[in-house]
Amino acid sequence: MFVQITYDSRACARITDRDIEKITACSLSKNIANDLTGFLYHDDQRFLHILEGPTEQVSDAMERITGNPMHHSLKVRLMNRGRERSFPDWPFGTLAATDPELRRIIRNMGFRDVFDANVLDVIKIIKRVAGRKYRMMTSLEKQSLTDARRIIRPKIPLGVTEDILDFRR
Ligand SMILES: Cc1cc2nc3c(=O)[nH]c(=O)nc-3n(C[C@H](O)[C@H](O)[C@H](O)COP(=O)(O)O)c2cc1C
Repeated sequence: MFVQITYDSRACARITDRDIEKITACSLSKNIANDLTGFLYHDDQRFLHILEGPTEQVSDAMERITGNPMHHSLKVRLMNRGRERSFPDWPFGTLAATDPELRRIIRNMGFRDVFDANVLDVIKIIKRVAGRKYRMMTSLEKQSLTDARRIIRPKIPLGVTEDILDFRR
């Protein structure tokens, strides 16, 4: 069983590409190690993050995220439990409001921006863009993600199936 949390928050200062690089740099390896996946959407003032994984790991990550001084007014918009993840291939995907594919989908659905849409639609929209992005990734990029998952071992015990498949070793 996985838990999926979707929250939004306000940045303390205008969000730059450098900020996103910094957040990604510390989150990517931590999320791989903790078996977390998800997507961080942002414009230049707000974040919207869909974070998923085992309950305890999600809860620990939420504590770290809430305590980060880069943002404030964090609000959980949805909490789901399920057997499947929405973003199994993405330990820490990022998506900017300026993404042309995203803008096209948002416009076609009649929204001004992601924050206008209801949270279930937002997850659907980001899933669609993520699927397209993943298909467009080169095999080298996909391989480097797989390699990172092998090198950074999860802190939590591997499941039986994963043991049998020798997954992530
Ligand atoms: C919007 C936002 C999203 C973040 N997402 C994650 C995340 O998914 N995983 C994570 O480990 N840290 C994430 N962080 C970074 C954490 O807040 C924290 O800086 C990082 O985990 C390092 O924590 P530590 O200094 O306690 O080791 C995020 C920060 C922000 C501002």
